[in-house]
Amino acid sequence: MSESIGGDAPTAAADPGGDGFDEAFALADPIGGWLTRDQARALWDAAADLPPGAHVVEIGSHQGRSTVVLARALARSGGRLTAVDAFVDGPRYGGTATRDVLAAHLEQAGVTAVVDVVAARSQDVRSRWSEPIDLLWVDGKHDYWTCSDDLRWSEHLPPHGRCLVHDAFSSIGVTTSLLVHVLPSRRLRLTGRVGSLALLEVASPSGADRRRLVAQLPWWLRNVGLKVLLRLRLGAVARRLGHVGPFDPY
Ligand SMILES: C[S@@+](CC[C@H](N)C(=O)[O-])C[C@H]1O[C@@H](n2cnc3c(N)ncnc32)[C@H](O)[C@@H]1O
Repeated sequence: MSESIGGDAPTAAADPGGDGFDEAFALADPIGGWLTRDQARALWDAAADLPPGAHVVEIGSHQGRSTVVLARALARSGGRLTAVDAFVDGPRYGGTATRDVLAAHLEQAGVTAVVDVVAARSQDVRSRWSEPIDLLWVDGKHDYWTCSDDLRWSEHLPPHGRCLVHDAFSSIGVTTSLLVHVLPSRRLRLTGRVGSLALLEVASPSGADRRRLVAQLPWWLRNVGLKVLLRLRLGAVARRLGHVGPFDPY
């Protein structure tokens, strides 16, 4: 099991005069999870860019680290967030008790009214979903099949709509899914990444976009190798390869 990187005391203060991100991240950072500050910033920017009343779908909320960031951004423009999580049992995700923890974190962040928590498997919710959405955040189950299904939520995005995918270049299942479904796609292109968070856009990809995706593969292999080393308690070797800290590369 990889450890979450949040859960300590808040590290960022309110930002009078700022755009609200620092304040949102100060609320999110104590919440356990795997989202880095830069990745939270990418989520914030994508949500803050949306028109008033926008509807965002999050797949995989856990205790609310990313949920709080998205919801705080959406609250500024009357948007709403559908947060889908199966609240999977086990030590990693904590099962149904995590739903109560999430609810408490949303309350603390003042965003309960912005977020509709749907406690179900993303595949089951998607199969009956018909509404347009404005932004998609994929951070649910990381196996190939689930991630491939989760990418299909992007069919509800408008042209130039954005889809952000966590662990896109640090997980075998997620990366394989991107290689199978995004690399040959005529509708989704990779515009960049923040750590292992992929930034996708609904647009016809150019050759350069496809090469950009392939160019991430050496970095992905390195990350998978680092995760193996960390599982084998070979952190010293990982450090020699340039990995900083005890956590998985995100
Ligand atoms: C990596 S965590 C999400 C982390 C969260 N985005 C954050 O920033 O802290 C993955 C979540 O996906 C949920 N999950 C696993 N399988 C799922 C599925 N089939 N559908 C929806 N959620 C699922 C787990 O319960 C877990 O809470």
